[in-house]
Amino acid sequence: MDLKNLKPAGAGDPTDTILDGSRFVRACLRKPVDRTPVWFLRQAGRYMQEYRDIRKHHTLVEICKQPDIAAEVTITAAEKLGVDAAIIFADLLLPLEPMGLPFEFQAGEGPVVHHPVRTADDVKALRTDRTDELAYVARAIQKVASHFRNRLGIIGFCGAPYTLASYMIEGGGSRNYIHTKQMMYGEPLAWNSLLDKLVAVLTEYCRLQVLAGADVIQIFDSWVGSLALSDYRDYAFEASKRLVRAVQAMGVPVIYFGVETAGLLSAMAETGADVIGLDWRQPLDEGWRAVGYSHAVQGNLDPITLFAPLEVLEKRVREVLRSAGGRPGHIFNLGHGIVPNTPVENVQAVVRMVREFHQEKARLELANG
Ligand code: CP3
Repeated sequence: MDLKNLKPAGAGDPTDTILDGSRFVRACLRKPVDRTPVWFLRQAGRYMQEYRDIRKHHTLVEICKQPDIAAEVTITAAEKLGVDAAIIFADLLLPLEPMGLPFEFQAGEGPVVHHPVRTADDVKALRTDRTDELAYVARAIQKVASHFRNRLGIIGFCGAPYTLASYMIEGGGSRNYIHTKQMMYGEPLAWNSLLDKLVAVLTEYCRLQVLAGADVIQIFDSWVGSLALSDYRDYAFEASKRLVRAVQAMGVPVIYFGVETAGLLSAMAETGADVIGLDWRQPLDEGWRAVGYSHAVQGNLDPITLFAPLEVLEKRVREVLRSAGGRPGHIFNLGHGIVPNTPVENVQAVVRMVREFHQEKARLELANG
């Protein structure tokens, strides 16, 4: 795989160095780095005053559809935190619209799809030929890429077929995924056709993000933990694997992330994703062992630790770093997204702690000869 991120340093910018720009991508590829890269799931969001200010004037979807604003939100969050990667500001559900499924975010309720997909005819009616309508995401990525040049890794993203299918079928978030599993078990032809259509759309969606400058693609299979291992293998794995391989063929590494996946990790790794995202319920070393050391891992601090006193927070941050064991291929992150009301200064403190851990380690190594 070519190291797309090793672009020449931007002319005239003294802070640009090849090592800086590629730290995150190098870790995705399990290459040695000067220190563990760090970024946060949902690093731009309601916990940040700058984001809340913009949200006073624009809805979430408006922000996503205006490349100037989406780029500004992305850049502001990454710079304020001092992280090694910027994830493009967008939402998992955006591809539903060009497929013919309008949705909205209702205050306090999350996403609502007005006419959920429930029958084979509903699946048949879904369109796969309008992915270029998502070009606004590509334009936002271009703006972020030209701002950071090679100083930070730029992450594009999409939902995994299973997780997006579950939103389309349930019509929103769900506790038990009854409608989704009913189609999965009871109407295998409709289910497979739905996943095929999603793989087609998501592949093109990722392609436009990569062409615009995304260095890495993260695939969010946020709700895959609702599946038993055998159901994951029988009904979700194949579509995820096809998407992972299609994106890798574009020349970028793929991060594949899910929540409550302790029982699924080795199967998820079989998709061939370069990096597996770990949630916080399992110690990182156990998760990495399950994934296998031929993959990098990303994670896995409990996002609610960010509400703890600094001493507790630091203890947990160090635990995560220590359990990575100095092996190349660890990207520090949370086990899931930052939640509203998280103190921003604690998120910044974590970035400092990750840096300090390495400085200390370097000093110790020097002292011990
Ligand atoms: O900084 C970043 O991480 C980039 C932005 C981002 C958003 N959504 C913006 C957003 C990302 C990466 C996502 C992905 C996303 N969207 C996921 C996968 C990540 C995960 O948490 O597992 C999912 C499941 C969604 C769907 C979605 N969007 C939900 C369930 C919600 C929550 C609804 C709520 O009100 O809490 C959203 C809304 C959303 N997407 C917000 C943000 C910043 C917050 C709502 C707002 O600004 O009004």
